[in-house]
Parts: sequence; C-alpha cells; structure tokens
Amino acid sequence: MSEALSRRGVLGSGLALAACGPKPAPAAPVAVPPLKAVAPFPVGSEIEVAQLDEPAAVALILRNFSQVTPNIELKMEKILREDGSFDFSGGDRIADFARANRLRLHGHNLIWYTYRPDAFARVTDPAAFARAYANYITAVAGRYSGRCVGWDVVNEPVAEDGEGYRDCLWRERFGMDYVARAFHLAREADPHAILFLNEYNLESLPKKRATFMRLVEGLLKRGVPLQGIGTQTHLSYDQSPEILAPAIRELARFGLPIHVSELDVTTRGKRLDVTPAPERLRRQAVLVGAAAEAFAALPHAQQYAFSTWGVRDRDSWLTKPELKGDRSDRPLLFDDAGRPKPAAAAFVRAVGRGRG
Ligand code: G3I
Repeated sequence: MSEALSRRGVLGSGLALAACGPKPAPAAPVAVPPLKAVAPFPVGSEIEVAQLDEPAAVALILRNFSQVTPNIELKMEKILREDGSFDFSGGDRIADFARANRLRLHGHNLIWYTYRPDAFARVTDPAAFARAYANYITAVAGRYSGRCVGWDVVNEPVAEDGEGYRDCLWRERFGMDYVARAFHLAREADPHAILFLNEYNLESLPKKRATFMRLVEGLLKRGVPLQGIGTQTHLSYDQSPEILAPAIRELARFGLPIHVSELDVTTRGKRLDVTPAPERLRRQAVLVGAAAEAFAALPHAQQYAFSTWGVRDRDSWLTKPELKGDRSDRPLLFDDAGRPKPAAAAFVRAVGRGRG
C-alpha cells in the first residue's frame, strides 16, 4: 500500500486546506441518464464483494455499468493462502453476480510487482518456482476461462518514474521474462479473454509512457499474446485535460484495444491548495469529459471499456481510512449517496450517442 501512497503523492501531495475541517457540502445533484445507456462502448467500474450485500450499491452498479472489475477478489492477496492453497470464494461471488446480471467481468490482476507472498518467496528452487508461477496463473485464469472478457495479466511493470522497470519477486526469479511468461500462461489457461498490460500515470508522465510502449512493442515483436493496453488514468483535478487525448492516441498506435481501466480524479490538490470545492468538482468534470471524449474518438474496435475505479466517492481507495485515504476527497462520478456529480454529466455530454 506504500506504493498507493506514493501513487497518491504523485496525484497531489499534502493535505489541501479544503480537506481540513468539515466535508464540503455536496454539489447540487445533476440528473443524468444511465452511463451505459449513452455510451457507445462498455462502461465499467471496480466493485467489491461487500457492495453485493448493499441494495443501493447494486442498483447503482446495474443502472450505470455494463462491466465490473473486482477490486481485490481476483488478486493474489485474496486468492493465495499462506499454505499455497487458493480461496476463490470472493472471485466466484463476483463472477456469479456478473453472470446473473449479464455484466462483462474484467479480471484484475494475475501478476503485480507489489506481491511477494511467502507461498512463493519461500520456493527457492528455480524449477519449483516456475511450476508454482505456472500453477497459480493457470488455476486462476483457467477457473474463470470463458467468464472474464479480459484480464490484467501483468499490472504496473514500469518503474514509478519511468526509468526502467519495477523490481519485484517475479523479476528477481525470471528477469523481465516474467511478463511474457505470464501472458503465455494466461493464454493457454484462457483462450477467450483479451490479455492486457495495465499501468498508471501514462498520461501524466511521458517518460513512463515511453518506457511502457517500448515494453509493449518488444512483447508484440516476440509474438507474446499481449492483446490490450490498460491505462489506469488516476488523475488529479488540478491537472490539465490537454494531456489526455495525445496520451490515449499514442497508446492506441499499435491498434490494440484500449481500456481506461481505473479512472478517478482526486480533488485533494497540492499542499495549501485553497481552491473551493465547487471549482474542484468543475475541473474534475472537465477532466472526466476530456478522458471520455478522447476514448470515444478511438476506432470502435479499440474501445474495450471505459472504467472508473469505484462507484461512489466513499467506495474509493482514496477516501478509505484503512487505506490512509482522505474522507474529504471526492474522486468519482457519484457522491457518497450515489447521486451523479458534474463529472457524470460531463461523461454523458462527451459520449452521448452521436458524439462518440
Ligand atoms: O476488506 C478488508 C477489511 O476487512 C480489513 O479490515 C481492512 C484492513 O486490513 O483491509 C480490507 O481489505 C483491503 C482492501 O483494499 C479494502 O478495499 C486490503 O487490505 C487492501 O490491500 C486493499 O487495497 C487495494 C489495493 O489496490 C491493493 O490490492 C485497494 O482497495 C485498491 O483500490 C487498490 O487498487 C489498485 C489497483 O489494484 C491497481 N491500480 C492502483 C489501484 C489503487 O492503488
């Protein structure tokens, strides 16, 4: 999670004055149609299994989204037990919910630099480690074969500043071949899913985007079954919307499907930022509209999905106390009560049928 803090740090370090004191009054609610009804492409959101027991959350998800990404239920931290056995209960529950409600299910994620579980780390024999790596990917991707429309096979392979690649257990054992190895294993386990490489700050850090694109180009040249690019699009309200269209266009240059995979726009701002809350929400809406417009301008075959990383502000990693979030942050398209915010209206304007 320390990386999430540094990730959050990139987005807007320090507590904004506006974040101190009482939570700003909610913006006047806006009336918007269901997001999935107006978009000419799948609209997704991250969800958590706990939301499935909350009727209001389920209603909001079903009204607005045609795709869901489990937050942690398909991650190694949730599936892999200490003894090396697997717990698929959370993943199965969300997969069943998706199937019952005819929602696309996006798997996230098979391999991530942040994970160094003992069940793997204690395996020192190279052949045994390779078997364990293959066994894990095959078991997880195989279990949901035919149910996941896509998978984030490898998450966040590039170094935070774009200088080279992340150090991690997987790279220690396989070198950078851990990436190709994961894609080949996922392809064998699930011949149906579209296989993604997923990364953040590709809009904000051109150097990171360049390193990422070099990795993609190399994998494609080697015939690795990399079939999609996920750009997480975690933004800050004080960033310029001008960075978004050029970034998405560049990411799309290999002709692969693009997933805006984790959109949120923190309203925290930088230290001593005194911007009033309504202006933050207005600028947030401009950014969401610009991201949606840039995505909608892609060739239809490259529009995999446009996903937010959470439904309501209170569902966001950026506001959760247990994740050192800031309760005054308002990063998503719906407020704590599930009412659409200006950002939701901006999304609708940007992609309304005929505009996309
Ligand atoms: O549900 C438990 C709760 O029962 C327990 O009391 C609490 C304290 O231990 O932990 C809760 O689970 C936490 C979960 O978030 C709550 O949503 C997990 O420990 C924690 O590891 C998990 O963090 C998630 C993080 O990825 C690591 O998996 C965040 O929610 C999630 O938003 C974040 O998402 C990442 C994407 O996967 C990749 N891109 C960046 C994005 C934000 O960091």
